[in-house]
Amino acid sequence: MSQGTKPAKVRVAMKVNGREVSAEVEPRTLLIHYLREHLGLTGAHIGCDTSHCGACTVDLDGRSVKSCTMFAVQADGGDVLTIEGMANADGSLSALQEGFHKCHGLQCGFCTPGMILRAHRLLKENPNPSDEEIRWGISGNICRCTGYQNIVKAIRYAADKMSGATRKEAAE
Ligand code: FES
Ligand code: FES
Repeated sequence: MSQGTKPAKVRVAMKVNGREVSAEVEPRTLLIHYLREHLGLTGAHIGCDTSHCGACTVDLDGRSVKSCTMFAVQADGGDVLTIEGMANADGSLSALQEGFHKCHGLQCGFCTPGMILRAHRLLKENPNPSDEEIRWGISGNICRCTGYQNIVKAIRYAADKMSGATRKEAAE
């Protein structure tokens, strides 16, 4: 490629929130930019340029990924879940979303989409985690506001609700 020549674009196709999507992108396009700029899914955030904050976390083929750390072409053919796909089929809040709402698991909300997607995978892998396991499970996601206490309560709430337990009191 000579200097000043734009790189050839490639078509990247995947399933996002149950819908087949595709777009022409430069090979260097990161997955987070593909989601936000090409698909208009702006729920996943960019909070750092060091792969530390986790605000960009989405679910890809059954695992949590930081979508700022991989190219869109690496997700070609994959199955992606973002916060826009987290609500129940009838539009009501999922147990995790309800938990964050009821337990005040957010303040500014910047970390929340990534936090919820990470918690989603955590509860798939371990439906009844201890508080310590929750803290370890979200250790790749940074929150600058809450002090994490209510995030842990929110995930606990969702775990209890999803396992059918009746939780009588939401966290103060
Ligand atoms: S934007 Fe911070 S880890 Fe991806
Ligand atoms: S709620 Fe503000 S960064 Fe987590």
